[in-house]
Amino acid sequence: MKHLIAPSVLSADFANLQTDIKMINQSEADWFHIDIMDGMFVPNISFGFPVLSAINKYAEKPLDVHLMIMDPDRYLRDFKNSGAANITVHYEACTHLHRTLSAIKDLGCKAGVAINPHTPVSVLEDIIQDVDLVCIMSVNPGFGGQKFIENTYKKIQALRYLSSEKNNSLMIEIDGGVGMQNAASLLKAGADILVAGNAVFAANDPSVAISELKHLNIDILTS
Ligand code: DX5
Ligand code: ZN
Repeated sequence: MKHLIAPSVLSADFANLQTDIKMINQSEADWFHIDIMDGMFVPNISFGFPVLSAINKYAEKPLDVHLMIMDPDRYLRDFKNSGAANITVHYEACTHLHRTLSAIKDLGCKAGVAINPHTPVSVLEDIIQDVDLVCIMSVNPGFGGQKFIENTYKKIQALRYLSSEKNNSLMIEIDGGVGMQNAASLLKAGADILVAGNAVFAANDPSVAISELKHLNIDILTS
């Protein structure tokens, strides 16, 4: 599949959110990536349902909601009602992951699992067939603008191999420290979706930065 670009709203200007949402609507971005943090699973708090609903009011593309919260089962329906198209939970935050993923699908959302940098791909072996999307964290979750962790490439390859054996339609998303300096290599390794916060919103022209990520030519790297 042609890769997707999901700008992370965490790096947007919260005082002018509507402007940034319109920019994403008019850009070549595919999804809105929305980071929800609870101050427990990660050492930061982002925003909750009122802000998500406000984003949903203006967003014209699917909301890809990344839950960095403990025990997300408590809030799945609320996230769906606030506009989530995809709901991604953390492997490390779910005691009964299969139950959680089933609940997400029952709500009519795509079900995603995120894994932290220290969590090996192999823990997904017995759940991969029930997952629509795996988000490989390429930074420790909690903040935008962090340095990309190089071990991510190895994990993408391992996950691509696992998906070829057990779930051909799995989408692989990379989240954290993604930009023009590594995007083509990530796609070549097997990524389908690139999340980008700082690389988009700190650019002189965010919309151009999105287009550049969208039109990467990975054939150059394949020879
Ligand atoms: C980190 C979040 C990311 C973050 C990415 O915990 O999950 O989505 O916003 O930001 P950048 O692209 O700046 O690393
Ligand atoms: Zn995220």
